[in-house]
Amino acid sequence: MKILFFGDVIGRPGREAVKKILPKLKEKFQPNLIIINGENLAHGTGLSSKTTKEMFDAGVNLITGGNHSFKNEDGLKLLDNPQTPIIRPLNYPSNMPGRGSIKLEVMNQSVIVFNLVGQAFMKDDVANPFKAAQEFIRENSKSSKIIILDWHAEATSEKIAMGKLVDGQISAVFGTHTHVPTADWEITKKGTAFVSDVGMCGVKDSVIGVEKTLILKHFLEEEPVKFELAQGDVVINAVSLTVDDKNGKAIKFEKINELVS
Ligand SMILES: [Fe+2]
Ligand SMILES: [Fe+2]
Repeated sequence: MKILFFGDVIGRPGREAVKKILPKLKEKFQPNLIIINGENLAHGTGLSSKTTKEMFDAGVNLITGGNHSFKNEDGLKLLDNPQTPIIRPLNYPSNMPGRGSIKLEVMNQSVIVFNLVGQAFMKDDVANPFKAAQEFIRENSKSSKIIILDWHAEATSEKIAMGKLVDGQISAVFGTHTHVPTADWEITKKGTAFVSDVGMCGVKDSVIGVEKTLILKHFLEEEPVKFELAQGDVVINAVSLTVDDKNGKAIKFEKINELVS
């Protein structure tokens, strides 16, 4: 099983760049399953029918989320629709829209993807992601050999700790949220692919996808500023993972870092 996973896709520049580069990446990596983190799809905050349709039409099979998953009114309906392959972090309160995991059938093989959000330096009040991970894996490991986690968190220490907790129990931990790719991707001895953060699909000359002059004004003048997305060439940060169908172990893990003009 080959899986292509894109870090946070940010607004129109991110969507257009993913659409543009997908044919080339499909040709090169031959993925059976394409996943994007979509918490920033709709102008940087949340997701919408239009933006998710664009991604599904381009060949994306599943959209994961994060702390921005609930920030677009239109997106809330999508999260609640069981027909749409869109998930949000599992450890938000259960009375919030959407679901935290999904089981997909890919080439007669089941794949489970679940999503968790961190607690360190994050504003939302969520359940303990470590306990949630333990419980989820305990309940689901018998129903699929291939389990993938989109681990949406800010602190690298918290992210690495999660990797240690689930090491050898699931196929992969793909970190998201910071929009900055880390250099620690590896396949552990126990066969789990891990990276603290995949990065983003957003404008390169920006501050995590946002127009840099606005962010600089915000820091220099210490005043709230309305953020706008940057425009320009887009960096595509993604990973390609090959998993052994027989036992769910990661066998090949490659980083993708491309520039789309
Ligand atoms: Fe994000
Ligand atoms: Fe986020």
